[in-house]
Amino acid sequence: MDGKQPCIQLHRVSVVFSDEVAGLRDVSLRIERGEFIYLCGQTGSGKSTLLKVLTREVAHTSGKALIDGRDLAEVKPTDVHLLRREMGIVPQDFALLPNRRVWENVGYALRAIGKTRKEVRHRVPEILEQVNILHRADAYPAELSGGEQQRVAIGRAMISSPPLLIADEPTANLDLEHSMGIMELLRNLNAKGTTVIVATHDMPIVERFPARVIKMEFGRVYRPDDEERGDA
Ligand SMILES: Nc1ncnc2c1ncn2[C@@H]1O[C@H](COP(=O)(O)OP(=O)(O)OP(=O)(O)O)[C@@H](O)[C@H]1O
Ligand SMILES: [Mg+2]
Repeated sequence: MDGKQPCIQLHRVSVVFSDEVAGLRDVSLRIERGEFIYLCGQTGSGKSTLLKVLTREVAHTSGKALIDGRDLAEVKPTDVHLLRREMGIVPQDFALLPNRRVWENVGYALRAIGKTRKEVRHRVPEILEQVNILHRADAYPAELSGGEQQRVAIGRAMISSPPLLIADEPTANLDLEHSMGIMELLRNLNAKGTTVIVATHDMPIVERFPARVIKMEFGRVYRPDDEERGDA
């Protein structure tokens, strides 16, 4: 890999869901390796859609999207799992397996990336310890608070020490204290070199943990300069 490549580069990326609904409109942006980025904007502004383009859950309808120089449009459906191995994904709804215990949720993800049972036995407690949820290893997701479920989801996303972590509203529905715990976790990962992208409307959190903000509005990246030029 070329060290000078940005982590993510989007050039005029659009996602059109139907004639009326555009998920993204002409989005261009560049995120360098090792950056911590907030993706902000109102409900429906396209934050999750942008993240889903990066994870190939949503196919962009035009424009170019590159991760580490790799064109996402050229990743074959059979190779999408390989792309996702390079990223940790914390979805907006956590997507934990409801009928599996906390340790199994993390263990299954480790098995899915080819770890042996022995490695799983060794790694799961380490990961749960890192996200401070080891004491609830035997609980089912429904028995956990929102913040605890969020920590399991982050732990699961970290299993392969991915160079890129994508978290969609990781502090939604959490009080300030628990939100700060989650943010500290994400900032620590970033300090160790992981590129982190967080979609959020949680402005108090953005103010407490300042980093570059990419603001979205109606599917576009909002740039104050555009307004000055009158073509926003
Ligand atoms: N699968 C889909 N099919 C049709 N329209 C969709 C789909 N997913 C998203 N949309 C629409 O695209 C727009 C952007 O949605 P998106 O989920 O990206 O917003 P968001 O910024 O993440 O909002 P929130 O803050 O509520 O999570 C919305 O108008 C939404 O209704
Ligand atoms: Mg969303």
